[in-house]
Parts: sequence; C-alpha cells; structure tokens
Amino acid sequence: MYSLKFDVVVFILTIKLNSVLSSKEDSSYWFDLGKNDINNALNKPVIQGTAKNVILFVADGMGITTTTAARIYSATESGYLAFEQFPHVGILKTYNADKLVPDSASTATALFSGIKTNYKTSGVDSSVKLNDCEASLKPEARIDGLIKWAQDAGKSTGFVTTTRVTHATPSALYAHIPNRGWECESTIPDDSKKCKDIARQLVEDEPGKNINVIMGGGRQCLQSNTKDLPGDPVDTWACFSKDGRDLIKDWIQDKKGRDKTYAVVQNNEQLNSVKSSTEFVLGIFANGHMAMDYARNKSPKGMPSLSNMTQKAIELLHNNPEGYLLVVEGGLIDYAHHRGHARQALDETVSFSDAIRVALEKTDPQETLIVVTSDHSHSLVFTGYLSRGSNVLDVAQESVLDKIPYTSLLYGTGGPNNYQYSSINGTVSRADPSINDTRDYQYSQQAVVLTDEVTHGGSDVLVYAKGPMAHLFHTVHEQTYVAYVISYAAKMGQFKNNSQRIIVPSMFLVLNMLLMGISI
Ligand SMILES: *[C@@H]1O[C@H](CO)[C@@H](O)[C@H](O)[C@H]1NC(C)=O
Ligand SMILES: *[C@@H]1O[C@H](CO)[C@@H](O)[C@H](O)[C@H]1NC(C)=O
Ligand SMILES: *[C@@H]1O[C@H](CO)[C@@H](O)[C@H](O)[C@H]1NC(C)=O
Ligand SMILES: *[C@@H]1O[C@H](CO)[C@@H](O)[C@H](O)[C@H]1NC(C)=O
Ligand SMILES: [Zn+2]
Repeated sequence: MYSLKFDVVVFILTIKLNSVLSSKEDSSYWFDLGKNDINNALNKPVIQGTAKNVILFVADGMGITTTTAARIYSATESGYLAFEQFPHVGILKTYNADKLVPDSASTATALFSGIKTNYKTSGVDSSVKLNDCEASLKPEARIDGLIKWAQDAGKSTGFVTTTRVTHATPSALYAHIPNRGWECESTIPDDSKKCKDIARQLVEDEPGKNINVIMGGGRQCLQSNTKDLPGDPVDTWACFSKDGRDLIKDWIQDKKGRDKTYAVVQNNEQLNSVKSSTEFVLGIFANGHMAMDYARNKSPKGMPSLSNMTQKAIELLHNNPEGYLLVVEGGLIDYAHHRGHARQALDETVSFSDAIRVALEKTDPQETLIVVTSDHSHSLVFTGYLSRGSNVLDVAQESVLDKIPYTSLLYGTGGPNNYQYSSINGTVSRADPSINDTRDYQYSQQAVVLTDEVTHGGSDVLVYAKGPMAHLFHTVHEQTYVAYVISYAAKMGQFKNNSQRIIVPSMFLVLNMLLMGISI
C-alpha cells in the first residue's frame, strides 16, 4: 500500500514538473527525462506471483489517436493518462474471424474468451454465422470465458459499464448469442425464438446469475414498457422489451431463493447506501445507456460515474479470500465517436482514466493484475500541425489549396453532420469550421466519406498492464492473448493447474546463485 501511494505522488510530481519545465525544454531537460526513463526501465517491477485479483478495463473504441488526443485535452502533451505509465505495454491485433475491421461483440469475445469469432456474434465460436440461432445452440459452439473461469476458481466476479448491461461488450462475459442486437425478446426474429435473449441469459443462466456485481444501464431490456424519465429517455434505437417481463424482480427472487444478501440500486444515494458485505448487487441506473459524464445528473437521485461504480465494485468484491475478477467498460467513447463528437469521446476517455486511478488507489499491485485495453479503434485522425500548447479541438490551419481552415481532429467516415461538403456552382466546397465552436461537446468534426455514422477503425490497439504477470504483455499480440494472460496469472480456466512458471524461473535463479557462489 505504501509503495502505491508513493507511485501516485510521483505521478503528480511528474506532471507538475513537466508543466514547469515545458517552458525551457533545453537539451538537459531531454537528457534528464531520458536518464529517468532508463532508470525506470532498469528497475521495472516484474511480479512473478499469482494474481489473486484481476481488473480488466476495456475502453470501447479507444484507438491510439483517441488516447493521444485525450492526453493533450486533459494533461497537455507532456502529461499522461492514468494508465500510460504502467510498466508493461503491448500491441493487440483486433481483426475478427470474418472481418478486418471488427465490432465490439466479436472483439469482446476475443478479449474475454480467447477465441476470435464472427462480426456481431457474442460468446460463440466462429462456427456460428450472424443470426444463426440453431448453430448458436450447439453446446460445442458456446464458449466459456473469464467470468466462468473465475467463478470456477472460487473468485467473486463483477462488471460495471456505462452502456446497457446487455450491450455488446458486457454480453460476451456471460451470453452466447448469434446476434448482439438480441438484447431482449422484441428484436429476435420469429424464426429464431428458440434463442434466449441476452437479458434473460444474464438473469437466468450461468454464469450470469452468479455474477456478484452488475452495474450499468439497460432497464428497458430488463423490464417491459419502461417510460421516459427526466434526463433518462428510453433509447428508441435499442431493444425495448414488451413481453411483460420484470427481470429485476426475477433477479431478486433468485438471490432470495439461494439465501444470499443482495441489493438493487438505481441512483447515487442508493448506491452509496449499499453495505460492502452484500453478496449480490444489481445497479441499473438508466433506461438505455448511462448519460455521459459531462451531462450526468450528479445529485443523489442521479447517476454515478464510472469511477463511482468502480470504487463500489472493488469494495464489494474484495472481501473474498480467493480474490475477484472485475471488468470495467468505458462504453461511451465508442458511442461518441459513432456520432462524430470528438470532444465527448475525449471527455469519456478522461472519465475512463479516472476510474483506473481509483482502482490503483484501492488495490495492491503485488496481488492485483490491472489490464487496460480497448476492443477496437475508430476512424478518428489527428493531423494539421497544431502548435505546441494548442487545444487539440481547435482549427489547425488553412488548407494551402482551397484556403479553407480545417480542425486538427477529423473523421474518415461520418454521418450527415460530419459530412460538411456542398456544391456551389458545380464546384464541391467544404464548410469552414472556424465559424463554429469546435470545442463544443455537440460539434461534429468533418468526415471525408458520408455514411450513416462514423465507422470503427481497424488499426491495432494498445494493452497496458501492471501487477502479477503483467510483463507477459511485451510485443505485438493477437487480441485473444488477453484472456490467456489473465487466466495464466490468476491460475484459472485452462491454466488452473499451471505451476511451471513458479518452478522454472526460480530454479534458474537458484542455479545462477550457486554458480556465482552466493550462499542461499
Ligand atoms: C462519485 O465520485 C465523486 C468524485 O470522487 C464523489 O464526489 C461523489 O460523492 C461520488 N458519488 C457517489 C455516489 O459515490
Ligand atoms: C454562382 O454563379 C452565379 C452565376 O455565374 C453567380 O452570380 C453567383 O455569384 C455564383 N455564386 C457563388 C456562391 O459563387
Ligand atoms: C456551424 O455553424 C452553422 C451556422 O450556425 C450551422 O448551420 C452548422 O450546423 C454548424 N456546424 C456544425 C458541424 O456544428
Ligand atoms: C487440475 O487439478 C485438479 C486437482 O488437483 C484435478 O482434479 C484436475 O483434473 C486438474 N485439471 C487438469 C486440466 O489437469
Ligand atoms: Zn461501435
């Protein structure tokens, strides 16, 4: 705990120091920085023990352009987001079984189950084509993952997200479904009604019903005919249950029937009042996705932040002597990018980083592996030679050819608000962004190609890790590697009996010491 606090202090000092020094970045400044970095690399912690606890942070749609821009937005270019100074970093390839540019359900399946699968399918292998209900019901096609492995190892489990708890990324933790859109019964076609929707799989089936902490949005998938609430409208784009269900009541009945302590919470004050000894907690804070942090009602009757949910989840899960597995999703970065609102995406990335800071404060790196990654990138680009010290949301410069200014952040593809071209007297002309407030949350950065929305990016994403076995991330990996490193580090799933790693390195160490004549 002591060294942890120390880390945080060093981190804050580094930021302060950097902002003071940025005015005189002379050669000694860069030399000192380099020396310091070498020193850190030489003293890099390699923790060989078992990970009692694992926290996996997934930022939906956070490509490397997003992290760079969010860093500048929140901490200037010399600063760092909370996870950017983790000691171990790797690169992940995100293609899925059938596409070079993937969606979130297939990439979540890769991250959580270690298997690449088809576009828009969740928790099934690649033998299941999109919408093929029959194929998805075959037991051999339904694959287990981190939640099941952790529960089998006696660990407590939980997930928190800013999206619906039935949305693509969380669905891959507990459901097996040939279409991620089948969140509730109303979106399943008549010829596929044999398939159980994602919401019911969460509440009725294993491993969903054994998950200790579930927090996010998605009331409209769990309960039928939910109504618009102030600041919390029903999402008409998403699944909306109509079959008369009340899965929140069913969830309670299940916990009562098993004689477990439980709590259902739907706002800040209810979340605050949950005792940390409660065995099962279901927090449903919104009809659809939760509100973005900047627009969130922070009052007692309002919604918690991702940090609030992460903090509570750790308090609830950490009592188990066998440890826990917690997955935290920053799900609205992707949502903001799809709608072409870069400022919202950057702001949500900062909220995601804040949640990681909470986890760093509340855990011991000797026993908790923290992995931070993204499922896929987005078509955000960062260009235009902005000067040092600029706001990354500003106009970068004027085009030398058409003399029209352009912003530093742009999208490759985008919806009608992003596509800002018009034809004037037979000549195509791009709108001038300098007439708009490009720092506004609602501003839509310009896109090259008109589509229905900004589409995902296919470039690699980064993985940042700290804690036991974090050093196993070290080069360019397949995205599936994340599931294996976590199960190896925590001795669960296919690696539950693995003990080689303890013997092999320590034998070498003993031999070396003997050869060097060191008495042991
Ligand atoms: C959420 O976090 C903020 C900032 O740490 C804190 O002020 C607030 O009280 C928290 N709210 C809840 C409901 O925990
Ligand atoms: C378009 O062409 C017409 C006729 O040549 C001209 O009067 C008008 O000013 C032009 N408009 C613009 C915006 O250039
Ligand atoms: C820019 O401002 C103009 C004029 O107010 C408005 O019509 C347009 O929608 C704005 N564009 C964006 C992307 O916000
Ligand atoms: C792992 O160990 C347990 C108990 O020692 C044993 O029952 C089980 O069969 C082993 N599993 C594998 C995959 O070797
Ligand atoms: Zn997306």
